[in-house]
Parts: sequence; C-alpha cells; structure tokens
Amino acid sequence: MSRFDALPISPFTRLNKLLEGVAPGASPIHMHLGEPQHAVPAFVGEILAKHTAEFGRYPPIIGPDHLRKAIAAWLNRRYDLNAAIDPERHILPLVGTREGLFSAAFVTVPEEKRGQKPVVLIPNPFYQCYAAAALSAGAEPVYVNATRETNFLPDFASLPRDLLARTAVVYMCSPSNPEGAAADEAAWQRLFELADEFDFTIFADECYSEIYTGTPPVGALNVRRRANKDFARLLAFHSLSKRSNLPGMRSGFVAGDAAVLARFREFRNVAGPQLPLPIAAVSTAAWSDEAHVHENRALYTAKFELAKNKLGNRFGFRLPDGGFFLWLDVGDGVEATTKLWREGGVRVLPGFYLARDTAEGNPGKSFIRVALVNDFATTNEALDRIARIL
Ligand SMILES: Cc1ncc(COP(=O)(O)O)c(C=O)c1O
Repeated sequence: MSRFDALPISPFTRLNKLLEGVAPGASPIHMHLGEPQHAVPAFVGEILAKHTAEFGRYPPIIGPDHLRKAIAAWLNRRYDLNAAIDPERHILPLVGTREGLFSAAFVTVPEEKRGQKPVVLIPNPFYQCYAAAALSAGAEPVYVNATRETNFLPDFASLPRDLLARTAVVYMCSPSNPEGAAADEAAWQRLFELADEFDFTIFADECYSEIYTGTPPVGALNVRRRANKDFARLLAFHSLSKRSNLPGMRSGFVAGDAAVLARFREFRNVAGPQLPLPIAAVSTAAWSDEAHVHENRALYTAKFELAKNKLGNRFGFRLPDGGFFLWLDVGDGVEATTKLWREGGVRVLPGFYLARDTAEGNPGKSFIRVALVNDFATTNEALDRIARIL
C-alpha cells in the first residue's frame, strides 16, 4: 500500500460525477465553488503594467523587501501587535496559501514522534489540502469532528493524551471553511497550551479572516504573542484571494515561529515556488490598502442579511462569524444537491464530500455548503430558488 492511497478525491470531481447527466432545471447559478466573483481591485492592472519587465527576473524566495514590510505593517495593524512582527524573521510570501499549507508539513512532521508514526490533526469537515499534506509528509491524519455541539470547531483538547503526544501538526481553520466558525481567544489559548504541552506546531489557516459580518475574528498571532514573543509553534496563513478578490493571482503569506520559518525558507529555496516580482508589487499595494477590503466586506454583509431574511428560521441557519459560506442542515446533503440542480439549476456542494467518515459518522452528511460569491441579484435569485425547492 502506498502512502498516497488515502489521498482525498477532490469534492468538485465528486460533485461533477454526482450531477453528470442531470440537466439543470433553470439557468445555472454556481454556488459550489469558493471563488470570489466581486471585482478585482482597480489598482491591479496599472501596477502589473508598470512592473512587467520584472517577469524577466527570477524572484527571491523571501520576496522583495517592500512586500515583507507591507505584510508586517498589515499584521501589526490588523492584530494590534505593537510591531512584534519582524519582516526579516517572521514572514515568508507564498504563491497562494494552498501551497504553503501543503508544503509546511514537510518541515514540521518528523519521521517519528515518541517512537511512533506522527499524527496530523485535521478538523472534520476540512479544506482537502490538509489531508494531502499529512499523507504526503508520512503522517497519520486524524479527523476531529466539528459539529453543532462543539460550536462547529474541533475540540482538540478532548482527544486522548497518547494521541496528542504523537501529534506533530494541528490544522486550525478560523474562520472555518465550510462552517464559518471563528475561534475566540479562549479557544486559541487552549490550543496553544496543548501545543506547548505536547510540542506540536499549529497551522492557523486564517485566509477568511477579513470576510466577517460582526466583529473582526481574533487572530492566532495576537493571542500567541501575549504568551510567547516569538510566536513559537505557530504558523499563521493569510491570503489575498478572499480579502482582495484575487484568487487567480495566487498570493499569500505565512507568518509566525522564526525557527520553523528559517527551516521552511531553506526548504523553499531549493523546492518552493517563488512569487513573481510583478505579482509581489500588486500584493504590496493590496496589503497596504483597506478601502477595497471594506467595500468587499460590505457586499458580503448585504448578501448575508439577504440570506438571513430569506432562510432565517430554516436549515439551522446561522450567520457565520466569517467567510462567505452558508452551511445549511438540509437533512441529506447529497440528495438536496441533486434536487437543487435538477429543479432549480443551483449548484451547491454536499457537506459529505468535505468530511471524512469517523466512528461518530460523517459530520458533513446532512449539510450543503453554499458560497455567496455571486453578485447581489444572482444571489437573491438563487436564495429564492433554494427556499422554494428545499
Ligand atoms: C480553508 C481554505 N484554506 C486555504 C485556501 C487556499 O487559498 P489560496 O491558495 O487561494 O490562498 C482556501 C481556498 O479556497 C480555503 O478555503
């Protein structure tokens, strides 16, 4: 048996198969993919044009100074870090967070932990890249259910101590995809206490941190800094894909533990992708501007208000703390997905495809994930269809 036999099949491949040969009952509306459809910020084209000649140079793995400084300034502002982030030691640019969430496991998962196969803890349901990373790094992925009873976040502290002792990495997505649940300060604190006791690294996937409806979600870096000035055992991942509507530009970063990042930097120097310099120039502008982020957030807030009005007392509706998904309890997610497509042309994703079976069942089974990424009018039409059909 190869270590890759248990690699996840993409939820979208499974969805295509499910709906193959099923004709949509109305003009299709795509809500299955978390791909922001709001406008690309106006400054992007101009900056790219100005920096085109830099496509003729190999970029440094650490990115240009201006990018790391802009990221450090954004983090220090956003999370009130009092200049704790050092652009030289605490930041590495990424070509989108996905590649970093994947490859950081190679420098944090040892061959063995306490003489046994190392474990990577993964929330269930989850962004599928986490499982690919754990398996590729030679670890045993262990899926920790996030359910209504646990406020839709995994309760890692409830795990047996011998399992925690074997744990090398914990993925924590906040606000979470798909449920939109954000960890509060106490939840992060508990996780850091576990990390210190059992010596594992936390991968805080915070790529939805800027899409929120109420108060800004607490950041892992902020909570960690109070106990540990050097962000030990924390890597926090951030992206321009959702914050700035630039999913196709592929730009993000990882910030945190200086010692781990030094190893990761060396690894990336021989094996990692570099961010093209013109993209780095656009990224610097994007991290330095909040006006377009405010506008973007307001568009999502209006759509969540709309969804609350139309679905409010059905499907266990909750306004998410963050992110742009509705996580609706529809009884049988696969059946509802087929029905919505067949009768209404609305394409959503069954929660079942985002979660793994566990001894307690598949925590995504009764849910669908609905991405509110389209414009207001399209979202309005889609929500009407969902309310009518389900
Ligand atoms: C939870 C989560 N993490 C990471 C990513 C990757 O984002 P990107 O590589 O575009 O930064 C996504 C994208 O959909 C996501 O949903």
